[in-house]
Amino acid sequence: MDSILVTGNGPLNGQIPIAGAKNACLTLMPATLLSEEPLTLTNAPRLSDIKTMTALLQSLGAEVSSLQDGQVIAMSSHSLTSQTADYDIVRKMRASNLVLGPLLARFGQAVVSLPGGCAIGARPMDLHVEGLEALGAEVELKDGYLHAKAPGGLKGAVHQMRFASVGATENIVMAATLAKGTTVLKNAAREPEIVDLVECLRKMGAQISGEGTPTIEIQGVDRLHGATHQVVTDRIELGTYMLAPAICGGEVELLGGRMSLVESFAAKLDAAGVSVSETEGGLKVARKNGRVRAVDVVTEPFPGFPTDLQAQMMALMCTAEGTSVLEERIFENRFMHAPELVRMGAQIEVHGGTATVTGVERLKGAPVMATDLRASVSLILAGLAAEGETTVSRVYHLDRGYEHVVRKLEGVGAKIERIKGQ
Ligand code: EPZ
Repeated sequence: MDSILVTGNGPLNGQIPIAGAKNACLTLMPATLLSEEPLTLTNAPRLSDIKTMTALLQSLGAEVSSLQDGQVIAMSSHSLTSQTADYDIVRKMRASNLVLGPLLARFGQAVVSLPGGCAIGARPMDLHVEGLEALGAEVELKDGYLHAKAPGGLKGAVHQMRFASVGATENIVMAATLAKGTTVLKNAAREPEIVDLVECLRKMGAQISGEGTPTIEIQGVDRLHGATHQVVTDRIELGTYMLAPAICGGEVELLGGRMSLVESFAAKLDAAGVSVSETEGGLKVARKNGRVRAVDVVTEPFPGFPTDLQAQMMALMCTAEGTSVLEERIFENRFMHAPELVRMGAQIEVHGGTATVTGVERLKGAPVMATDLRASVSLILAGLAAEGETTVSRVYHLDRGYEHVVRKLEGVGAKIERIKGQ
């Protein structure tokens, strides 16, 4: 297994290009199942999760080709051979469950393995099932698989979700595009990736309104046609790299960044003493003066502070002046980066869903282990600011969600290299 060696090397300066959003692409790709005409995505990120979704769609009989070094994904689901998403693929990536809604809507049936838990939590699918049942589907759990069917087709309905689940919103919205009649989805998730999905579905002929608000209305149509869609910028990669000059000093411009994608995150950085300003090409980030100040963080559904940036923000707070309280309200076990940061000299106490961080002047480099996607990059951020060398092992987690990390950080002056595993 590869590892990444980072050596604290002072302030960072320059530009970092931000890729298309992993979590938008992972819901846009299954949308191809809704139509027999081709769907092409541009600005796609080059990530192992995208390869996993490609393999899943191909296992269903879809044609998926990756062009222009992976930045374009051309898909066609003209003739599928299966409506079953196997456990061996789904267990690797929870987002595989996003084929459920589209398969059910187009074919009236789907068999999708339950993803099983993952490092950050149990991650059940009850909210997905409740929404699809509201549209008239019959869903049964058998041998670890969800067997869903809607022989007479799905019917529009009014449905209030108990929690604003991102994936459940995506599955229900995609299913409702081909249901008979009108669906009103209440307490829907408002993430930019959902707005991006709806914009793509609308290009395919779907009749949808209200995306980005808690109430999304979908008028079912008989069929959807093909389209070409550019994947929205990745707000989590953007936020992650905004923290690089925040933790190291210097000034970095994030190309393709937009303030509207990271409003609550940028406000927290401002309160901590980090300036974020819009430029022609994106967002410019710099520490206002010296050491950042400790701020408190509570993770919430969009537009609140993103849970996917909690680990990275914790790394910054480990070097802040004062004490910060980070409350993780979305997942039940998303502090696995904390013990690894403590190995680097951080002062962190975790009690349930709350971590209390007392900032230290300087972290010390140490060998640490990545435990999940966002934890892995929080350790790299800590290593950029630490004294000496930090080796982050198990970087396969990193490859799921960050393309060309070494190249992007080297480009702004970081001392970082990837060490091939034996
Ligand atoms: C999406 O996961 C993202 N993944 C996650 O990003 C992100 O952390 C999460 O949304 C929250 O923003 C993709 O978009 C591919 P949820 P998702 O359904 O859809 C519980 C990353 O690092 N829940 O909003 O699975 C669930 O257990 C990943 O890129 C139920 O209880 O998130 C969790 O505690 C990690 N029942 C909470 O809701 C359900 O049926 C949020 O889950 C569904 C979810």
